[in-house]
Amino acid sequence: MRRKLIAGNWKMNTSYKEAEKLSKDIISSISKSVLDKVDVLLCPPFISIGIVSKTIKGSGLKLGAQNVYFENNGAFTGEISAEMLVSAGCEYVIIGHSERRKLLHETDKMINKKIHKVLEAGLIPVLCIGESLEEREDEIFEGVIEKQLTDALQNISKQEMEKVVIAYEPVWAIGTGLNAAPEQISAMHRFISEVVEKLYDSEITENMLILYGGSVNEKNSKEILSACGVDGALVGGASLKAAAFCSIAKDASEIKVT
Ligand code: 13P
Repeated sequence: MRRKLIAGNWKMNTSYKEAEKLSKDIISSISKSVLDKVDVLLCPPFISIGIVSKTIKGSGLKLGAQNVYFENNGAFTGEISAEMLVSAGCEYVIIGHSERRKLLHETDKMINKKIHKVLEAGLIPVLCIGESLEEREDEIFEGVIEKQLTDALQNISKQEMEKVVIAYEPVWAIGTGLNAAPEQISAMHRFISEVVEKLYDSEITENMLILYGGSVNEKNSKEILSACGVDGALVGGASLKAAAFCSIAKDASEIKVT
């Protein structure tokens, strides 16, 4: 059975010491019964991956990065490879977050290269897709999502696809306090599933995790996580508060996967 996944994307927040403290606080606030049912993932900034890895060792929490580069090594100043992430204890990598697409001009082609490299290294990519407010208002959002998925998954084999996690994050819901309505989320998750089924088959979509992200917090998590087709959440702001993040994970542990 699919296990729900609650992922915290700390973005560019927390100093080295704060990252250590936040991971300690999460360990003390999360119960074993939650971790028995739900995968809980922390994605700190690169600089704190080492200390968070050390802190969470043996706790059952999982570790991921927020980005990766698509080359193995060499003269790529400031970049981090998939192998480096593996060596630091990461199991997951967020790829194609809308903030990177928009602010750092990350293209679908780069995202596709990153997914290939990450899978080669044995990491799990969390592929972020989502439409802007303008694209939703212009009612072209399904086409946008289909293109993002198709381009990102170019030449990814069925066997590789079994490992890919999708995160649907409508850009208009990120950091705005305006989460998408449960019906909107379910409709988009169904659409994503249909697109992936067209690209692969139903065996893939039956086991594929689709997370929702965008203003998820401890107050709306129960409703969002209960929406049909939601297999977990990618949490930004609320993942920086141990109590809020653990409450979201607890909600996930109490809801059946649909
Ligand atoms: P917020 O939860 O702060 O809206 O951020 C969502 C997000 O971008 C997670 O990747």
